[in-house]
Amino acid sequence: MELFVDIADLDAVKKVAEYYPIEGFTTNPNILSTASRPVSEMMAEYRDFVEEKDLKIFFQVTGDNAQEMVDEAKRLSDYFTDRLVVKLPAIREGYRAIAPCKKAGIDICVTVIHSTMQALVAAKAGADYVAPYVSHIDNLGAQGVRVIGEMLRIMRNYDYHCKVLGASFRTVEQIKDLAVIGCDAVTITPEMFGRLIAHPSTSESMEMFTKAWTRKFGEKEITDLLP
Ligand code: G3P
Repeated sequence: MELFVDIADLDAVKKVAEYYPIEGFTTNPNILSTASRPVSEMMAEYRDFVEEKDLKIFFQVTGDNAQEMVDEAKRLSDYFTDRLVVKLPAIREGYRAIAPCKKAGIDICVTVIHSTMQALVAAKAGADYVAPYVSHIDNLGAQGVRVIGEMLRIMRNYDYHCKVLGASFRTVEQIKDLAVIGCDAVTITPEMFGRLIAHPSTSESMEMFTKAWTRKFGEKEITDLLP
């Protein structure tokens, strides 16, 4: 499963990348609007970082018609080269922009997906990723995980080379359920990375190990016992 961190703050991304195996980071207009430093200041740093660490970076276009979207995608792609995945919104103009972007060799993620059919049409049009918003779908009275299961089945039925990138999570269980059904990728917050590996029983056992060790060996480390 590909893991992405859903944040634009470069320091936060770097921190996550130090601790967890990630494929890159994803942004959207809302995330960029809440970045703690001016995004224009960070652009060059983003580029160096993804290049150095061999990561992908996702940016969403902001134009409201296909021509603007394609122009923005090309300019972003010139700057970020093949590290970039351009997010196109799942609206009519976004769908129209897919083919010209693909023709220009740009990787595409169709985003803000809320239904199986939006994903099918995006995959058929040539998208490399579709990004369904799991919790939004749950809040609309459907089941995000089940909807993603349908998408995965469709990708296999028709041999579409389009990955499903789950986004918008509130619980670890949503992510676990997606992993069980073979979802290709998820993008999650830095806090959620912490929750994926946290377990009170692990912490309890570690406390016990530390106490036992210190009782017997004090400040020594295991390597101090080597002959
Ligand atoms: O990647 C999608 C995500 O940023 C949407 O988040 O908070 O609306 O579930 P949220």
